[in-house]
Amino acid sequence: MTRIRKAIFPVAGLGTRFLPATKAMPKEMLTVVDRPLIQHVVDEAKQAGIEHLIFVTGRGKAVIEDHFDRHFELEATLAERKKKTELDHLSQDLPAAGAASFTRQQSPLGLGHAVWCAREIVGNEPFALLLPDVLVKHPRGCLAQMMDATKDLGDKANIIAVEEVPMDRVHMYGVVGVGEQKGKAFGITKMVEKPKTAEAPSNLSITGRYILQPEIFDVLAKQTPGAGGEIQLTDAMVTLAKSQPFYGLKFDGRSYDCGSKIGFLAANVAYGLDRTELASELREELKRLLG
Ligand code: G1P
Repeated sequence: MTRIRKAIFPVAGLGTRFLPATKAMPKEMLTVVDRPLIQHVVDEAKQAGIEHLIFVTGRGKAVIEDHFDRHFELEATLAERKKKTELDHLSQDLPAAGAASFTRQQSPLGLGHAVWCAREIVGNEPFALLLPDVLVKHPRGCLAQMMDATKDLGDKANIIAVEEVPMDRVHMYGVVGVGEQKGKAFGITKMVEKPKTAEAPSNLSITGRYILQPEIFDVLAKQTPGAGGEIQLTDAMVTLAKSQPFYGLKFDGRSYDCGSKIGFLAANVAYGLDRTELASELREELKRLLG
């Protein structure tokens, strides 16, 4: 498959589930330990070789742009105080000059519409899409595993990360039907957005990581609203699947749905326990709390 160079991050959502924290601050800036959610997801994309970051923002999201820009005053102060480690970390996190683009989704019309807003910046090449609500904890991340899996697939393949969820939760996700295995991935036979339990083709949910062909944009341009009255990406993928293959990949690692409070809290504990300088004290705290 053509090399995937660009990734879309839809960051226009209102974050109503985290009010009041998200009244004046984008939900993508909520921190898991000391890194904003969006930074964790950008780290995963960079680890998979992504070179250009495309953020689909909205009103009230300007601090995301600031986060991925230089901060001269802060850098000067850190330099004066000889805080070399902090300075190094800041510069490591900074995208290369010209390697981040920002466009706005003017109305909250759904994920499909947000992706479509990035069409001019993506152009005519396959791209990755990462939803910043979802963190995947794995040493290589999820997108890199998907990139590996594309090697066994054709040039016009689309690939989606999937994972098992309990049947009583399938109505919260896009769900896929399972066909033949091909390398590490499997052919997708069906895709349904937010199905009722009885209508779900399996218990494999779409996790929030996609590699898609640019033809999805033509489909999205004509897409009518679906589940929840929103322009759904899954519905556009169903149409594209008539002319291009779609594959699912059960990735290694665990996902945390940081769009939910429990997922977010669990992610903070899990990522905290992974940090050598925090792990033992955090473990002690947890023991105390749990009695
Ligand atoms: C979106 C997608 C859905 C996917 C989910 C993963 O839904 O439409 O297919 O399973 O992300 O988090 P949302 O969470 O935006 O309702």
